[in-house]
Amino acid sequence: MMKVFVTRVLPEAGLKLLQAAGLEVKQWEEKRKLTQEELIENCRDADALLSAGQQLNAEFLTASKHLKVIALHSVGYDNVDIETATSLHIPIGNTPGVLSEATADTAFLLMLATSRNAFYMHQQILNGEWGFFEPTANLGRELRGCTLGIFGLGKIGIEMAKRSAAAYDMKIIYHNRSRNEQAEKELNATYVSFEELLKQSDVISVHTALTPETEGKFNMAAFKQMKPGAIFVNTARGSIHNETDLTKALQEKMIWGAGLDVTHPEPMSPANPLLKMPNVSVLPHIGSATEGTRNAMACLAAENIIAALKGEKLPHIVNPEIYNN
Ligand code: DGY
Repeated sequence: MMKVFVTRVLPEAGLKLLQAAGLEVKQWEEKRKLTQEELIENCRDADALLSAGQQLNAEFLTASKHLKVIALHSVGYDNVDIETATSLHIPIGNTPGVLSEATADTAFLLMLATSRNAFYMHQQILNGEWGFFEPTANLGRELRGCTLGIFGLGKIGIEMAKRSAAAYDMKIIYHNRSRNEQAEKELNATYVSFEELLKQSDVISVHTALTPETEGKFNMAAFKQMKPGAIFVNTARGSIHNETDLTKALQEKMIWGAGLDVTHPEPMSPANPLLKMPNVSVLPHIGSATEGTRNAMACLAAENIIAALKGEKLPHIVNPEIYNN
């Protein structure tokens, strides 16, 4: 019987698929990440790894080069040394598409919550500070007719753009490495340079992968070019913005607010000054966290494993070049 090691408790639908395929599944049930040694040890007699939230570095991959497949329970693969995996001929699978709507919902939620200081207002109630009604207090920002700048117009960015255009008639501009002409037609979106995205957007929403090019892209130089009324939303990866610069930009009112589902590091410290700011909304990386989406992700990850163990190509592969040689 072939064996699969899973680094977290897997949503039921994915687990059932693996078991129905006749695979022996061992899940890590402790509520903490595995150490590198524990991960290597648990993979020693496994044929496949289903990984969520673990760093898979060169040392791990080299020690586990017998693995026939690694399926990630995420669309992002920045926590895997893909180059080493490819050189070792280990196929890496991910879960694109199925989480786009849930993640876009989270971005939309953060945009709206930030525009109305909602998280801070909730804290005020908990602190017993629900004061008397004042027409001039607790004022938020209107989103109707504003310009939404999408940084990374892929599947998730498109869903965020659709929601924002439908709800608030927002004008959509975007910046990508290359133009997405189909999305331009469907969304009436306009491609702009990164500088223009910064200058024209009332809301910037980040939906790109973390790569050496995008790491730290939203730094002081970027925040300085944004509108003083702008809201910055990031549901992609925390390292795409520089947190020290973001905090300073908010403190010095270079921008108006920020909504973050991702931080660096994660978890964020409860003492982080961002958590005390009225115009900041922070969530603990729950972009894809709905029952339906997590089940769908687990199924895609399971399908990747089942295909690889049958000697077939992965339906959702990050490093297809391994099939070329
Ligand atoms: C993803 O799928 O990449 C999510 O951010 C979970 O890490």
